[in-house]
Amino acid sequence: MLERIKSTAAYLKDRVSIKPQIGLVLGSGLGRLVEQVENPTTIPYSEIPNFPVSTVEGHAGNLVFGNIHGVPVVMMQGRFHFYEGYPMEDVVFPIRVMKLLGIDSLIITNAAGGMNPIHEVGDLMLINDHINLFGTNPLLGKNIDEFGPRFPDMHETYTHSYLEMAREIPCEIPVHEGVYVGVSGPTFETPAEYKYMRIIGGDAVGMSTVPEAIVATHMGLKILGISVITDLGVEGKIGSVSHEEVQEAAAKSSIHLSKFVQDFIHKHSLTLH
Ligand code: HPA
Repeated sequence: MLERIKSTAAYLKDRVSIKPQIGLVLGSGLGRLVEQVENPTTIPYSEIPNFPVSTVEGHAGNLVFGNIHGVPVVMMQGRFHFYEGYPMEDVVFPIRVMKLLGIDSLIITNAAGGMNPIHEVGDLMLINDHINLFGTNPLLGKNIDEFGPRFPDMHETYTHSYLEMAREIPCEIPVHEGVYVGVSGPTFETPAEYKYMRIIGGDAVGMSTVPEAIVATHMGLKILGISVITDLGVEGKIGSVSHEEVQEAAAKSSIHLSKFVQDFIHKHSLTLH
């Protein structure tokens, strides 16, 4: 596995001169964030050796290299979901490649169902912790010692200093903070499941992010996680939900999320210099 990751990273280093500092994962309906990239180099996943191929509707599959506020970044426009049938090692493969390309920080975005009663559709939520309900873990199996320890500490998966920075960023739409519950999907939750996830401490639920955050933490990356609330799993407000509605709601907020992420990267670059 390590050799596969290394050979993919070597291919990309050959093809692109940019050495990215920050990696970004763009969730459902959030692919427009790539429009913020200056001097983009777009590489379709299908051209990258060892990369899985994105299948789900509404998720383009590209790695996009470029700059945001002068900071070199690499973006995943489209991710690999466990519900598509990929093994966990494929779901997290690009995160490990991005680490070998040189990133030290990862910004993960997603669309999620809001379970906190203060949530409204379209709001943002900074992820301050997660609960893994995938029923599996991307680090199962032989540990890759080059990446990190056998038993990774998870007490600060979502970097506190990043949360502090993010809290200061002005935004035209509400920005909450809370715990993201990660599930395999592909089913949306039953009302009883939403209730359960709320009781165990969840504020939002979605079908991604947790595997990526686990391997990123294993490799020592700093993480900022942001959910767009696309539907509500709040008692009394639960209705039907579809993938189309999720994408539409995410797309509506994506302009605000784009600006938020840009401002974060700008702020982050100022603290480094
Ligand atoms: N549940 C699970 N995943 C989701 C949801 C949801 O309500 N909304 C967007 N992704």
